[in-house]
Parts: sequence; structure tokens; C-alpha cells
Amino acid sequence: MISLGIESTAHTFGVGIVNDRCEILSNEKNTFKPELGRGFTPTELADHHYVVCKKVLDDALSEADIKMGDVDVISFSRGMGIPNALKVGAALARYLAVKYKKHLVGVNHGTAHIEIGKIKTGSVDPVIVYLSGGNSQILAYVDGVYRVFGETMDIPIGNAFDVLVREMKLPMPGGPEIERLAKNGTYVDLPYVVKGMDVSFTGIMTAAIERFKNDHKEEDVAYSMQEVCFSMLTEVTERALAHTGKKEVLLVGGVAANKRLQDMMKIMCNERNAKLYVVPQEYASDNGANIAWVGILDYKSKGKSLDILESKVDSKWRTDDVEIHWSEARVE
Ligand code: ATP
Ligand code: FE2
Repeated sequence: MISLGIESTAHTFGVGIVNDRCEILSNEKNTFKPELGRGFTPTELADHHYVVCKKVLDDALSEADIKMGDVDVISFSRGMGIPNALKVGAALARYLAVKYKKHLVGVNHGTAHIEIGKIKTGSVDPVIVYLSGGNSQILAYVDGVYRVFGETMDIPIGNAFDVLVREMKLPMPGGPEIERLAKNGTYVDLPYVVKGMDVSFTGIMTAAIERFKNDHKEEDVAYSMQEVCFSMLTEVTERALAHTGKKEVLLVGGVAANKRLQDMMKIMCNERNAKLYVVPQEYASDNGANIAWVGILDYKSKGKSLDILESKVDSKWRTDDVEIHWSEARVE
């Protein structure tokens, strides 16, 4: 079985082609790059995706060396995400499904980050740390859903990094810049905000911007931002491990690439006899292969296509609203 997955929740338009052994036949993408110091508007993203979508699709098919006729399932990111951007991927998916008479599957974006992490690392039943520009959640599989044990009460961690880096007039994405600067930094005081199992990044981000404007070195602000935010997340992850009794931690999402985050989580896991898994870098950020893989899991376990009339995007579709019906009947 072959699934073609379309990702368009935010800055990235991607098409990935995957078989039912999760071999990635191709994974092409084009990411919107704003000018220095700027973010993006939803309209700019949609325009970008419309312009690049045909080339990304054609490149994915030719790299996989297949034709549309060889594809069984068309999968697309249905939410959560930015509505204007989501609609471009959904429109292309519906068109391809109708034109080539293919099965259509609407995929939850957060679930795709988790499932690609599990299959590519061999992690079976982890506490999942999903950190990106649009999400910051600590989850674990309980009774048929990836339940959220802790999450950000305001902005996601990747977003906080990106805003801080924009203030510094450095290029996007912000996370890699913070990581690079932090290597030569020392600590300046920032607030540490954990409430129960939840975390908050707005206050820390505002304080970090203030420190930067008050002539603290970029390196020191970046170092402190990383240390504080990652300590908070490690604390909450440790409590989720203790609560669930699970013995694995899986890092997914764009921020999972950060080596300092990985080191902190590793120390905590070693102390608790748990094992740390990190999603491979090429699947950490948004891409079509993640979506294509969940399309296969979903279609194989349900055996049914999504009706076009029910295929509207859902920009607020939370990961813990998804019934993980394929989990008991694992796909070989
Ligand atoms: P989602 O829709 O799942 O929220 P997203 O659209 O934000 O995802 P991702 O590609 O998963 O996209 O994550 C991008 C984020 O990851 C950006 O905020 C970026 O700054 C951050 N990031 C990337 N690399 C690193 C790094 N090495 N350290 C910290 N953050 C990073
Ligand atoms: Fe993402």
C-alpha cells in the first residue's frame, strides 16, 4: 500500500510518499521564509503554498519514481493549524482523490508527529514530549487516546524562541539560532513558570527580550532562555513518567532537534531507568511523510475513506481528540 501525504498546517508545504513498511519513498517540501525581523500572515502562507504545491507534488512523485496511479491513499493534514494554509493542502488532496479515484484520509497533525517518532525510533509506549512552533505538550497513550498530561498555558516554546530571535534581528527559524548562541553564554536570571503539570513561556520570553534590550549579551539571553524553558519541560516530563509508570520518553516536533534539550532529558531518564528516544531530524519538523504514515495506519485499521463532504479542515483539532484505533491492531 502506498500513501501520499500532504502537509500544509503552517510555514511548510510538503508532500511525502510512504509505503506500509514506513519506507519513505520521497519527502519533498518548501518552507515559507519571511524577511529578517518579520513573521508571516495567514494570507502570505496560503499564497506561498499555492505557488509551490505543484512543483513539490511533481518532485515527490518523480523522486519516488511512481505515478499517481500507483498511490492508494491520499492523506492530508486536516488540523490543527492555520486555516488559510490548511485549506491549500486539503483542496489539493480532495482534487487528487476525486480525479484519480483514491481513498482520502484526514490526518491530525500532532498525531503524525507522534506516530512517525514511534515507528522511526522503535519506541513502543512512551511519554511523548511534543514541542514545536505551534504546540508544547507532554502526552501519553491511555485508553485509546494520546492524553495530554501537561501543556503550555499560553504560547508554544518554538514560538517563544522565534519571537526572541526576531527581536535580535537574526534569521528564522529561531530555535537553531538560540541553540548556536547558547553555546557561548552564561546565566542571567529569568522567571521559571510551572503550574501543576502546565508551563508558561510568555513571561520568560518578555523578560528575555527585556534583558536583551538592556544590553545583556545575545549569547547569555539565549543560554538562559534554553536552560529555563528546558528545565521546566524536563520537570513536567519526569512527573508524567512517575505518574504513568512508563519507561520511555520520546521527543518529537521541531524543537526535538535541540541537543541541550536532549541532554537534559537524557540525564533525567537515566536517573529514572527510562530510555530516551528522539525523532530523527528529517522527520522532526513538518513534512509530508509524517502525514502519509498516519494515512496508512488510519486507512488500514478503519478500511474506509473520508467522505469529501466531511473533509473540511479543523484548525483547532487537538491531538487528544483523536481516537487511536490502530494502536491495538498494530500494522506490520
Ligand atoms: P506544529 O504545527 O506541529 O506546531 P510547526 O509548524 O511549528 O509545528 P515544526 O517544524 O514542527 O513546525 O517546528 C518548528 C519550530 O521548531 C520553530 O519554532 C523552530 O524555531 C523550532 N526549532 C527548530 N530547530 C530547533 C532547535 N535546534 N532548537 C530549538 N528549537 C528549534
Ligand atoms: Fe508540526
